[in-house]
Parts: sequence; C-alpha cells; structure tokens
Amino acid sequence: MNPGGRGERGSEQPMIDVHSHILPMVDDGAEDIEEAIEIARIYEENGVEKAIATPHFIEGTNSSTKEKNSAILDRLNEALADNGINLRVYLGNEIYVTMDVLKYLKDGLISSLNSSRYLLIELPMLDIPLYIEQLIYQLLLKGYVPVIAHPERNARIVENPNILYDLITKGALAQLNLPSLEGMYGEEVKSTGEILLKHNMIHFVGTDIHMPHGMASKIKRSIEILKSFTDLETLDRITNINSQCILDNKPIEVDSPIQYKKQRSFLYFLKSKLNLGGDK
Ligand SMILES: [Fe+2]
Repeated sequence: MNPGGRGERGSEQPMIDVHSHILPMVDDGAEDIEEAIEIARIYEENGVEKAIATPHFIEGTNSSTKEKNSAILDRLNEALADNGINLRVYLGNEIYVTMDVLKYLKDGLISSLNSSRYLLIELPMLDIPLYIEQLIYQLLLKGYVPVIAHPERNARIVENPNILYDLITKGALAQLNLPSLEGMYGEEVKSTGEILLKHNMIHFVGTDIHMPHGMASKIKRSIEILKSFTDLETLDRITNINSQCILDNKPIEVDSPIQYKKQRSFLYFLKSKLNLGGDK
C-alpha cells in the first residue's frame, strides 16, 4: 500500500489541485473547452491527476449554477478522455464570502468541494467581513468546514497573519496559492505565504489557475519552493493527503496553528537599548 503514491512516480510529489478555474465558459477562467484541455495538459505535464474545478460564485456577478457547471463538467471530462488526458476533474465553487452561503447551498445554486463537507470561501482582497466568525460558526453547526482560499493575498492578513490564526481556531481551514510562493502577487504576499506555512496555518495548496499561460502553470517549480518551507510529511498532507480527504469527504488531521510573533527589527533593538522608545 502506498497512500501518498510517491513511489509510483519516483521523487515527484503527487498533487491534487483543490482550486482551479479549468471549467470553461463560466467565469474568468478557461474560455472554451480547447483552453480547458490546454490547462489539463499542463496538469498532466506536472503529474497532477485530479483537480477540483472551483468556478467563482459571486452574488449578481458570477452566478453560474451548480446544474449548469455540472453539465459542462461532464462535457469536459468526456473531452479529456477523448484526448487521452489522464486528469479527473471534480466540481466545486470558489464562493465569495456572504452570510447567504447556506441559503445558496440549500437552493442548489452552489457546490461544496466534490459535494463534501468542505467549502472553498473567498475573502475580499482588502478586508475581513465583520460577520466572518458568525459565518464559520453557522457553517460548522450545519456540518460544513470552510476553507479560506488564498489567505496570504488578503491585505489584512498580510498586515497581521494572526487574523487567520483566529479563524483557524474557530474551525476554518486554509488553502495557499502555489504562485504566491513564486512572488506572482508581490513580495508581501510571498512572505505572508511563507509565514502561514511555517505556522501550521495552511492545510491545502492549489494553483488557482485561470488560463494556460503564466506563472500558475509552473506547478513543479512551486512545489520545489514549497519543499524548502515544509517537512516531507507536511508536504504530502497539504499537496495530496488532505485534498484526497476532501474528495472522499473524510475529516483531516490538523496540527495546531502557531501564533505569529513579529520579529523585532535591529533598529527597534537599538532604540530600546538607548531608551529612545518603540512600542512596548
Ligand atoms: Fe480562484
């Protein structure tokens, strides 16, 4: 038995992508089936055999329904088989945060990740909604587990990574975008991603791939970078094992998050020694 599957592909790290805009014609991801097939070939080149399509669901902006997405997914999986591509795509959504998540689920408008207990939730880029803890509580009460998409890209979490620590202690999980580690969204996002990884605040990684070209396609290289921040066991868990638990709707094993303590600068040290102030 080889649960991680590592031995089957030598030293290559197997990965399941839990955040992908491969589903064509539903959001700002793949434009048509041909482009989706190009993305699938990138997955194949990088040894990714499973991906969860997570089209945006944003009230009034991107609101392609679960029914429509599911029909397109069937066409996509057929096209992949016809083209001899060894990739299986599952359905989910990247749900823009709202207190109406449960209502949309009940109405059948949105999909959890492969119809499991796990929901991929997108935060605004610049802020954290005041109701976020209430939402996490409501979702948990109904048996759902919110997974915060790319927290390292949120400006408030960049300023204070412990905002994510608090959300995790309330029951949320978190997914890092691999391109963040390459600096695709800038140095601050990159260093926040590194901090979150080092403080057990990341449970899954994804590409958030939207189109065949660009940084998101360099999955193998991103995983090499990831290796420099994690031990092999954690690497296996966040690239593969936890993601398979999503597909199987099983609970995942979570290490306690570690609170981030900001490093004092040398200048701060000098000021405090000379009694020139600095925060206490
Ligand atoms: Fe996304």
